[in-house]
Amino acid sequence: MPETALPASTTASPEAEITAALGTRSVVLVGMMGAGKSTIGRRLSARLRLPFLDADTEIEAAAGMSIPDIFETHGEPHFRDGEARVIARLIDSGPAVIATGGGAFMREETRNRISDKAVSIWLKADADIIMKRVRRRADRPLLQTADPAATVGRLIEEREPVYQNADITIWSRDVPHEMIVDECIEALHGRLCGGGAKETSNTLSTTQ
Ligand code: S3P
Repeated sequence: MPETALPASTTASPEAEITAALGTRSVVLVGMMGAGKSTIGRRLSARLRLPFLDADTEIEAAAGMSIPDIFETHGEPHFRDGEARVIARLIDSGPAVIATGGGAFMREETRNRISDKAVSIWLKADADIIMKRVRRRADRPLLQTADPAATVGRLIEEREPVYQNADITIWSRDVPHEMIVDECIEALHGRLCGGGAKETSNTLSTTQ
């Protein structure tokens, strides 16, 4: 009797299922400065075996100068235009894991592009965590103010209603990075692969 071929493995990892479901779409991380978009994004990209792209780094490469220099020489509106163009290019080159700068998702055109061609994760962080993290570096032009904590509070108030439109929200807090990455994987799997994502107290919401 001829042997019956066994079906292909039915035990693909959640990561492999996510990348298969993504197709050419990217995973885009949004949220405030200091929320951990680059740190988590780099680790998430390794888990998903996708390239990692950091929009701020790409903007600096395209402009041939640092972000503080772009703000100082050309002003914020010029930076925002360049940022929108660079993110559009990165999204069109997907699939990848893309970390965006904190203000990028505020632009409607960028939000629409992300919702059409990517899956977005808002890394939501409290003001005190953000302050603790941004204090370490002085390279954020928007925080060169007399009262950076008040500036962060105002930005959170302005931006959170918009960040809320992301597909997935994950609470970024002081726990091992791999725990946040696990929660991203679980939420992506739940959203893209239908099931397997239990809502946890730390995964604030996984769907819109
Ligand atoms: C900004 C955040 C920064 C950078 C620029 C403006 C913002 O990126 O794009 O300084 O408007 O919040 P990070 O969020 O990666 O710090």
